[in-house]
Amino acid sequence: MANDLIEAQSVCSPITRSAIFIVATLAPGAEAAETVRGWCADVAGLTRSVGKRVPDGNLSCVCGFGSDAWDRLFGGPRPANLHPFREFGVDGRRAVATPGDILLHIRAEQMDLCFELATQLMAALGDAVAVVDEVQGFRYFDMRSIIGFVDGTENPTGRKIERFTLVGDEDPEFVQGSYVLVQKYLHKMGEWNALSVEAQERVIGRTKLSDIELADDVKPSCSHSSLTVIEENGEEVKILRDNMPFGRPGVGEFGTYFIGYARSPQPIEQMLENMFVGKPVGNYDRLLDFSTAVTGGLFFVPSADLLEELAEREPG
Ligand code: HEM
Repeated sequence: MANDLIEAQSVCSPITRSAIFIVATLAPGAEAAETVRGWCADVAGLTRSVGKRVPDGNLSCVCGFGSDAWDRLFGGPRPANLHPFREFGVDGRRAVATPGDILLHIRAEQMDLCFELATQLMAALGDAVAVVDEVQGFRYFDMRSIIGFVDGTENPTGRKIERFTLVGDEDPEFVQGSYVLVQKYLHKMGEWNALSVEAQERVIGRTKLSDIELADDVKPSCSHSSLTVIEENGEEVKILRDNMPFGRPGVGEFGTYFIGYARSPQPIEQMLENMFVGKPVGNYDRLLDFSTAVTGGLFFVPSADLLEELAEREPG
């Protein structure tokens, strides 16, 4: 898709080769809030300016706001389902909540585009925010996650993407917005690689080379796939994932930046509960024996139109 077709806040933009994820907290004081509100009106223009330089680069930027930040920045009305990140699990296997008021998800085919836009957006925010986490993610060989399995296969496609990710008439003032949940995971790669391929396949629930779902009589109920498939009224509820590998081989760091979009946080939270607590309780996701969540945040992504309007808000 050519870059000029991509709008600001394009949650449903295609999967790219590179991404930067930035989570920041809002500085105290009215001045910081004022700066961030003004910045909301500039995001689309900055994205266009940088994106225009490489027309096939598919540069896009999504920005989201956490629950407390929404109240401080914009006051009411607020998105119906926006709340602080809910933790799940037990000590040693926990989906932790960590600080974060603003999320930037910058995607492009090449890292230089992501890097330039991140630089411009952060310069415009200045001291109004403090960055608490920043990750540069890359697409691994044939769409594989860092643990070697193809990632993203069961994402919704076609018209279903919008149906599963964008808010509709259920919350009219926030229509076309989206909820996004992020978690940074670190993997014990030595232990993971020590498993046989067959054992890894039972953890994920799919074959490793060919990326085909295991048959029901072979796939364990604690596999990642079994626990993240959820249904409501007999229909599967999907989320849109754009996970990215990241790492620093020199210090033995290997990670997955999980990012999931949905029209309500509920399905993503249900998946987290299934993974961390287990379904039934104790039948948890064995991927977590090799993966630790070190961050966690929930944000609301206003539509492009609303983002511009928010610049003019006067919180009460
Ligand atoms: C530790 C980090 C994670 C890794 C490495 C990972 C990797 C994978 C892989 C390889 C697949 C199979 C292929 C595919 O359909 O994408 C998958 C499927 C999936 N994952 Fe994850 N995942 C992680 C965390 C999560 C989290 C935190 C959630 C939700 C809260 C999640 C939700 C899903 C869903 C919904 C599917 C599709 C299941 C299906 O329809 O069969 N994943 N993941």
